[in-house]
Amino acid sequence: MPEKETVLLTGGAGYIGSHIAVDLIDSGYNVVIADNFDNSSPEVIDRIEEITGVRPILYEIDVTNEEDLRQLFKENQIDSVIHLAGLKAVGESVELPLKYYSNNLNATLNLLKIMEEFGVNKIVFSSSATVYGVPETVPLTEDMPTSCTNPYGWTKLMGEQILTDAAKANEDLSVILLRYFNPVGAHKSGLIGEKPNGIPNNLMPYICDVAKGKRDHLSVFGNDYPTKDGTGVRDYIHILDLSSGHLKALEYAQDQKGVSVFNLGTGTGYSVLDIVNAFEKANNIKIPYEFTPRREGDVAECYADPKKALEILDWQAVHSLEEMCQDSWNWTQKTNS
Ligand code: UFG
Repeated sequence: MPEKETVLLTGGAGYIGSHIAVDLIDSGYNVVIADNFDNSSPEVIDRIEEITGVRPILYEIDVTNEEDLRQLFKENQIDSVIHLAGLKAVGESVELPLKYYSNNLNATLNLLKIMEEFGVNKIVFSSSATVYGVPETVPLTEDMPTSCTNPYGWTKLMGEQILTDAAKANEDLSVILLRYFNPVGAHKSGLIGEKPNGIPNNLMPYICDVAKGKRDHLSVFGNDYPTKDGTGVRDYIHILDLSSGHLKALEYAQDQKGVSVFNLGTGTGYSVLDIVNAFEKANNIKIPYEFTPRREGDVAECYADPKKALEILDWQAVHSLEEMCQDSWNWTQKTNS
């Protein structure tokens, strides 16, 4: 890596972005964050500084705003971009599809336009395992068919398509599409982690709320799936592993041209009850739960085949389920919400 490359991290104050910011700074990159704090807070920037001793440059802007983004590129010599900014609530995207399409797609289009203007050719894009739709078989490999069940997912798949077409038209462009499975856990310091607004949609934040006494029990959505215990199976990946995957992808983007796609998952599927049990054991806290009907749009099983990332990026997840549960809980205890 050339000395002190500068990386633009859109959505860099978010759950995933803040962990990547820490890893980038620790690895010697300059970090410029663009975030509108729609689903994050300025305090996160202080926390990143507290952990790393370096304060990332911050632009409180919306990536969909062309003039603001151009100004950022004028004022900083950006070498590459990790694009995470976007709306991500699956349920909300069904209620407000136009908001999701407009925001997520315009952010990507705008970013590509300004990158081209300034001759920036490397981009890592935050995609999602949701682009596999309802999997026909698991584990999922990157060449399996894609489709989506909600507008949020479509914005990820369309984002992949936009980037793919842009790379076809501009042979200097290097695009890495990363399909995340289910990120959980938090930084070991307990200073940054996931902070959902209101009632959590996702399993681990909900379990942490129950552990904290904010909610009296977990609703397990469905116990009649064709899985080992009837509950949904997912590929939970520690946020630190997800983050390290981005650094590997960024390194890879230096050498390749065109588009590459990688799953970021562990390759192991755990059921909802596995997670409840692991959390109870790791933290010695009882999590009361009740079975309720399936949640609309949920699939029975979704887990990665992570071999391609190992072979090509030399990346694999190393943090255990126990750590995922401990680190999620450590972070939850340290936050005041
Ligand atoms: N679940 C419960 N109770 C809850 C919350 C979740 O039983 O209160 C179950 C779900 O039914 C599912 C599992 O826990 O079986 C995981 O659910 P999450 O909501 O944590 O995660 P999803 O797999 O549904 O969705 C996540 C991201 C999406 C992304 C998708 C990609 O939230 O943004 O992975 O596969 F699109």
